[in-house]
Amino acid sequence: MTFKLPANSKMLAPDFVYGAATASFQIEGANTADGRCESIWDRFCATPGKVENGDDGSVACDHYNRLEADLDMMVDLGLEAYRFSVAWPRIEPAPGEWNEAGFAFYERLIDGLIARGIKPYLTLFHWDLPQYLEDRGGWISRETAHRFAEYADKVTARFGDKVVSYATINEPLCPSFVGYRWGAHAPGYADERLGYQSAHHLLLAHGLALPLMRRNAPNAEHGIVLNFNPALPADENTPVDMLDHADDGEGFWFLHPLMTGEYPQAVWDEAPEAMPTRLPGDMEIISRENDFIGVNYYSARVIGPDAQGKPEEKAQTVPKTDIGWPIRPDGLTHLLLTMTRRYDNLPPILITENGACDNTDIHHGEVRDALRTNYFQQHLQALHETIEQGADVRGYFAWSLMDNFEWAFGYSKRFGIVHVNYDTQIRTLKQSGKAWQSFLRDRASRR
Ligand code: NOJ
Repeated sequence: MTFKLPANSKMLAPDFVYGAATASFQIEGANTADGRCESIWDRFCATPGKVENGDDGSVACDHYNRLEADLDMMVDLGLEAYRFSVAWPRIEPAPGEWNEAGFAFYERLIDGLIARGIKPYLTLFHWDLPQYLEDRGGWISRETAHRFAEYADKVTARFGDKVVSYATINEPLCPSFVGYRWGAHAPGYADERLGYQSAHHLLLAHGLALPLMRRNAPNAEHGIVLNFNPALPADENTPVDMLDHADDGEGFWFLHPLMTGEYPQAVWDEAPEAMPTRLPGDMEIISRENDFIGVNYYSARVIGPDAQGKPEEKAQTVPKTDIGWPIRPDGLTHLLLTMTRRYDNLPPILITENGACDNTDIHHGEVRDALRTNYFQQHLQALHETIEQGADVRGYFAWSLMDNFEWAFGYSKRFGIVHVNYDTQIRTLKQSGKAWQSFLRDRASRR
């Protein structure tokens, strides 16, 4: 089994990059090792009822202690690039205290990747905020944006151009809207205003960090990673404005200010009392130029008018993954073409995450995750067609390299192309991983 693309596909060109992605809290474990401080996710996991099964990140995939073996596994897979995140609680375990053991771990990771010919793609913040910052207001406090810029400065000064691509923040929608507005993620508030204020500070943090990152790593690319659950039209009569408006309430709430320096006006006008406090100059900082926009794509919504002509989310009859998300390769096409239509100044896109929850377990040493394998094939094909239609996409990362801690779902949802047995920590390449392996080895043999 391998993945197939048309012979003339731009996605077969040598400079289109393929990798797999993970995040610190989801795989590392060792959450008290070498001076790491508590993060908001450690606290959230310890709060009864917040995470399924009471799961936590204390061991996870034990990646912190299995780094070398995991690096060798990436070579075996044929990865061209690896996207990971740095845990801020390892780097700055107390305010202004920079922890050499934390830097050293990521240095071993980065040097280990380079030695194996794998390109490092580093994300600075994938949700594991130091708890001491939450105690001072977290992302509700403007000060956290400045603390983030300082942290970004230290990390990029240390690793410089060894890292080919730096992303500031992974999916700012999640720590703000899911964490402060809806309450399903750490720190677990459910308050509209806190959601928008934290979102503003996350974007501000991104903009404040960018020039420092560029100075420290002038040859690397710098950007941000956003998630989208885009609005597909219920039928051909669904007005484009209705879809744009639905998008503006979610993923485009973040993309629009980055591209234009303004929040989507219609959404703002609907709930003025929930909107964030901004200071003069903030929107200029937020709309600083990016070298790329990372897109995390999993699924899509269907929106159309109800009987009164008001927008309504429609039920979908398409198959779903094991986390209940409709499988919509057409949503990826729709999203990328919408982004391209709406913003003339859109930078090149990287698909920084795409993948499926398929809980197929191991039987006689094999994981036959057909749902996930088909999902990848369908989305690669859709991406190819989207590029043919004019989207500028430069790379693709599968989520995830291995099964891991799926936030509020704990370990109950598996996204890996490598199976992890959480009792023994044995890793087993799934059928989908084997398809990636033969696709990537075939590419390597043509170089
Ligand atoms: C996006 C997040 O970045 C990642 O942490 C998460 O595991 C996947 N989506 C799957 O939900």
